[in-house]
Amino acid sequence: MKSCSIVVFVLLAYFCHGTFSCPASCQCYPRRTEVVCNAVPLTEYPLEGLPESTTMLTIQFTNITSISERHLSATPLLQELHLFENQLQSLSSHLLRGVPHLHTLDLTRNKLSDLPADVFSHAPLRSLVLKNNLIKQADAEWLSDNSSLTWLDLSENHLTKIPTALFQKLPNLENLDLSNNRVEKIPANCLDPLTKLERLNLQGNKLETLDANVLQGMHNLSYLFLTRNKLNKLPPNLFQNLSQLKILSLDDNQLSNIPTGLLDPLNSLEEDGLDLTVNPLQCDGKVGYLWRWLQKNKKKVLLAESITCALPESLSGRSVMTLTENDLNLQS
Ligand SMILES: *[C@@H]1O[C@H](CO)[C@@H](O)[C@H](O)[C@H]1NC(C)=O
Ligand SMILES: *[C@@H]1O[C@H](CO)[C@@H](O)[C@H](O)[C@H]1NC(C)=O
Ligand SMILES: *[C@@H]1O[C@H](CO)[C@@H](O)[C@H](O)[C@H]1NC(C)=O
Ligand SMILES: *[C@@H]1O[C@H](CO)[C@@H](O)[C@H](O)[C@H]1NC(C)=O
Repeated sequence: MKSCSIVVFVLLAYFCHGTFSCPASCQCYPRRTEVVCNAVPLTEYPLEGLPESTTMLTIQFTNITSISERHLSATPLLQELHLFENQLQSLSSHLLRGVPHLHTLDLTRNKLSDLPADVFSHAPLRSLVLKNNLIKQADAEWLSDNSSLTWLDLSENHLTKIPTALFQKLPNLENLDLSNNRVEKIPANCLDPLTKLERLNLQGNKLETLDANVLQGMHNLSYLFLTRNKLNKLPPNLFQNLSQLKILSLDDNQLSNIPTGLLDPLNSLEEDGLDLTVNPLQCDGKVGYLWRWLQKNKKKVLLAESITCALPESLSGRSVMTLTENDLNLQS
């Protein structure tokens, strides 16, 4: 009985001291200094009871609509902030001024459109995820000049233009995801500052062609995704300096022709690394280059047999691989 009341006393002392403080309806894991508010009926940032020692905070599937510098200043040791699928419509300027250790910020699936200047300045962010919002334009003013971002995900937004000025501030970027936007054009040289890029995802945009020089500074590019665009023409030296490229997806475009030499620099392609399916290839004399390349590099090509001719009518649906020299000569 006596020991029982001692236990109760110790527990009470613990609670009153605040060691166990935690926002209502959230879970706190003091040893990991982690707080999780998952699918709870919150409409405002849960400031009350948030332990000052928190380094990792997740608020997801709630109805909070905004977050400010004042909110975040309550947890100055924060390193990771995950805000997946809330109703955030706005972020305040200088949002990260009170969290000088924050390196990861995930804002996937919110309702963000216009963001103020300096919204992501101040913290040494390495990873910024803005996937699936309503962003029309990504501004250079969002970030400080000495940004340390290595990972930027702007996929599934409403971008129509490449954020050229923003890229000037991202010399350390290794991963860039612009997939599923509405980008029509990549201006020449706009990717030049991104010399460390290893992964570039442009799939699901409206690109019709690419400038011959646009990828030439990316000596470390290993993954390039161009699926589901409207690419109808590629310059023969487009991939000239991509000797590290392991994966290249060009499927589901409008390519009628693979220009001579295009694929030659790609010495590092992995097994099944190249996808060229679902393109309306014209199997005239000009398909000879692709035909020869496929014979030599079949293993590096995904579903090589499914790369088919669209034209001429007499060869429509024929696998390019199965064309005979006779077919090629006939059509040249
Ligand atoms: C958010 O608000 C909607 C509409 O009012 C409601 O249906 C939903 O249950 C709320 N979500 C949470 C997690 O409380
Ligand atoms: C950028 O530099 C300023 C001044 O040198 C510094 O206070 C700030 O923390 C740095 N920001 C990042 C993201 O490194
Ligand atoms: C390219 O990658 C290698 C190996 O990962 C690395 O050592 C090198 O610094 C990178 N070069 C650039 C320009 O980032
Ligand atoms: C691309 O490679 C060529 C040949 O190796 C080289 O001369 C050129 O400087 C490279 N381009 C860039 C932008 O690095």
